[in-house]
Amino acid sequence: MVDKFDIVQVRKDFPILDQQVNGAPLVYFDNAATTQKPQVVIDALNQYYTQDNANIHRGLHTLAERATTGYELTRTKLKDFLNTPSTDQIIFTAGVTAGINLVAQTFGRANFSKGDVILVSNLEHHSNIVPWQMIAQETGAEVQVIPVDEVGVLDMEAYGQLLTSNRVKLVAVNHVSNAIGTINPIKQMIDMAHQVGAKVLIDGAQSVAHFDIDVQALDMDFFVFSAHKLFGPTGVGVLYGKREILESMPPYQGGGEMIKEVSFSGTTYNELPYKFEAGTPNIADVYAFGFALDYLKSLPADAVWEQEKSLLDYATEQLSQIDGLRIVGQAPEKIAVVSFVIDGVHPQDVGVLLDKFGVAIRTGHHCAQPLMARYDIVGTCRASFAFYNTKEEIDLFIKALKRCLMMLS
Ligand code: ALA
Repeated sequence: MVDKFDIVQVRKDFPILDQQVNGAPLVYFDNAATTQKPQVVIDALNQYYTQDNANIHRGLHTLAERATTGYELTRTKLKDFLNTPSTDQIIFTAGVTAGINLVAQTFGRANFSKGDVILVSNLEHHSNIVPWQMIAQETGAEVQVIPVDEVGVLDMEAYGQLLTSNRVKLVAVNHVSNAIGTINPIKQMIDMAHQVGAKVLIDGAQSVAHFDIDVQALDMDFFVFSAHKLFGPTGVGVLYGKREILESMPPYQGGGEMIKEVSFSGTTYNELPYKFEAGTPNIADVYAFGFALDYLKSLPADAVWEQEKSLLDYATEQLSQIDGLRIVGQAPEKIAVVSFVIDGVHPQDVGVLLDKFGVAIRTGHHCAQPLMARYDIVGTCRASFAFYNTKEEIDLFIKALKRCLMMLS
């Protein structure tokens, strides 16, 4: 744990960073895909499986009690992290995708009918498009799209126009674009949607690691995110919802834990949050996720933001000097993500070659094909930073990129 933001110490907290890849020091710039895990999270997983493993909410023995307490402790930590009114509005899922599908298949199925509108934006990840297309097809609702401008900013005037249809039941938008880093004005978007009676789901996959989220101040109806993009384990996600909405929704998956009583003449369902947590959940990873939240809390938030901002500025400046390179997405409000294309070079070739120099970036459409289509490109190279990255790593990346471009020319 660290008392102040000390980059040397912070990097030591993430053991994976200290390694050679293909004979060069690892430069990990794929944090938008998944973040690395601090030692405390790795230790928690190890401790859980070596000392505490049992099923939860069922057994009366000591291990079952320890496992249950550990699992529920993370829910309590999340209440504080998101400022939710209660712990029972926090539902554990497998990730953002699972959370959005849950809302589509329950809230959507119960509320959408022919002619209703689900508004998404042109900046969305496929996981915030396809579940809505699926439920729209079943219910006769229609998915409409908030356009995005040339630099990656949502067209708020068009958004206002789309809301006037009176048939908008749900607005589902990301807080931050995974592909190009735009930070959307979600408070304004939520308020505008509420004025016409629409509910709002915010996909926080790319925002939780970068700024504080207060679900009550923002007033969203649903908020989803994944633990693995927040320095926690894979396979864990969180769905927050307003109580009256969650209570009105039918259950999603049937099975153990989500019931009150089962008989062949009928079944009654459990209270929140268990109504939506059928089956044995991902106990170990939920438990370990709590340690990621503690770790984040121990870092000075302002210094973390400053660190990321300086990495974004430095990388943008360095990349802009490369001939033929164009940054895709230059919104004034951005997180530390730089997406770029280079004249005459396929992004995939850049990604493969950079790996030979130990540099990990993501290339391709970033599960945002409609956004790539908007800019008439097949994909980009995307470098995404976390607070544990450094300017020295950006120098290594730029040097490697220049060598790749020489090899490709
Ligand atoms: N959604 C993740 C990304 O943007 C996987 O890379």
